[in-house]
Amino acid sequence: MTISAASVGAGSTPDVEAYLGKTAGQRLQRYLDFLRIPSISGIPEHAPDCRRAAGKLADDLRAAGLEHVEVSETGGHPIVYADWLHAGGAPTVLLYGHYDVQPVDPVDEWEAAPFEPIVRDGRVLARGASDDKSNISIALSAAEALLAARGALPVNLRLVFEGEEESSSVHLEPWLVANAGRLAADVALVADSGFFAGNVPAITVGLRGLTAVEIHVQGPFQDVHSGVFGGAIENPINALAGIIASLKGPDGRIRVPGFYDEVVALSQEERMAMAALPFDEEAMRAELDVPALVGESGWTTLERRGARPTLDVNGIWGGFSGEGTKTIIPGRAGAKITCRLVANQDPARISDLLRAHITEIAPPGVRVEVVAMGGGRPTLTPRDLPATRAFAVALEASFGRPPVFVREGGSIPVAASFEASLKLPVTVMGFMPPNGNFHAPNEWMDLANFETGIRALVAFFDEYAAHPAG
Ligand code: BES
Ligand code: MN
Ligand code: MN
Repeated sequence: MTISAASVGAGSTPDVEAYLGKTAGQRLQRYLDFLRIPSISGIPEHAPDCRRAAGKLADDLRAAGLEHVEVSETGGHPIVYADWLHAGGAPTVLLYGHYDVQPVDPVDEWEAAPFEPIVRDGRVLARGASDDKSNISIALSAAEALLAARGALPVNLRLVFEGEEESSSVHLEPWLVANAGRLAADVALVADSGFFAGNVPAITVGLRGLTAVEIHVQGPFQDVHSGVFGGAIENPINALAGIIASLKGPDGRIRVPGFYDEVVALSQEERMAMAALPFDEEAMRAELDVPALVGESGWTTLERRGARPTLDVNGIWGGFSGEGTKTIIPGRAGAKITCRLVANQDPARISDLLRAHITEIAPPGVRVEVVAMGGGRPTLTPRDLPATRAFAVALEASFGRPPVFVREGGSIPVAASFEASLKLPVTVMGFMPPNGNFHAPNEWMDLANFETGIRALVAFFDEYAAHPAG
């Protein structure tokens, strides 16, 4: 190990530490200014804000000393590219993050306006504070500190920040392929994840994939009187409820034929490693305020969350739900469903299986249509990649304890694209607190994770440069 935590206290080196020590206020302001831009990629009215966030990021990267900084057009929200490539002989890191954020509703459940960040009790509260503007800001600050303190980075660095991750990255894959020539690297560092429950330093070795469908059920040509027609025709909401209820058995297993065919079996070794993680189920239950944790039988909560696929209804509509009674048979009903997938399930294949099965079990008397809404691939990355090992060393040096290796329940489809389209090994990492309310009201970032995260990334660059082959 090239870094001694004892000698520098926080994982970085004295020169970098001196710079970081005198610039804390400025980088906090820069991060807060970034959070003030409502770069919600999924809402068309916020397209100019996404562009503004990209522009600010590019300006900040230029000011930090990164080169070839470019706001690159994609047909959607732009991608910000920058590099620094003067570490002759050293490996090249391609670091990815996303500057777009999720919508803010329900906005009245926020303690403060989502785009007016407040700092309180060591936390920053704002939409995007963790997902993913924290990780981007940490990367920017680490590169800036190294360039300012040493005039050089220990590795070659390419930065790719996209603005459509939260609205399914439609333009990223083609951009990666079109720009493959300038994206050559030894590893893709996907900086869009975080720490394990209890805020334990973690490296993400698994991400779930996703497949989304909508079910549209059409009954009579319009809402009709339920006395005049009730008993004579099928009710689309009853039909939809029946379909949904049948998709999972009482054991929590998904009853779509072929659904589990490609699931990579969990090894006994991996199950033991998962069981050994410092996970407090009761704390999770209490935090969510649910009476019990439930799911597919035969698997632990952590296994169900990270290593098993799911099927969930995300929204459902139809009929009358206003105050009072309305005696109708609704004309139509619908539902949005997503499945989280695990290695090696294929989103397109799962979507086809869902369509075939739902169409097959649709009751007579209604017309059922299943519409594919896209998805993304899961990833499962080895823990002994050189960059992953270097990152583990860096986390231990800076946070004072070795990281745990975690299969995350969330999805970052681009991780699979780096593997498949750019043929790069992938290390998924990040510093978000595990309970940071991503996508929810009162998203927050832990400022200690932020500051120590910068040191960890500096330590990672040093460690990876010293041990590029592990
Ligand atoms: N950063 C998250 C994924 C994540 C969440 C990683 C929690 C680790 C811990 C990412 O921004 C995200 O929200 N992904 C979406 C995928 C999507 C919109 C295609 C998700 O998981 O729902
Ligand atoms: Mn994210
Ligand atoms: Mn997200």
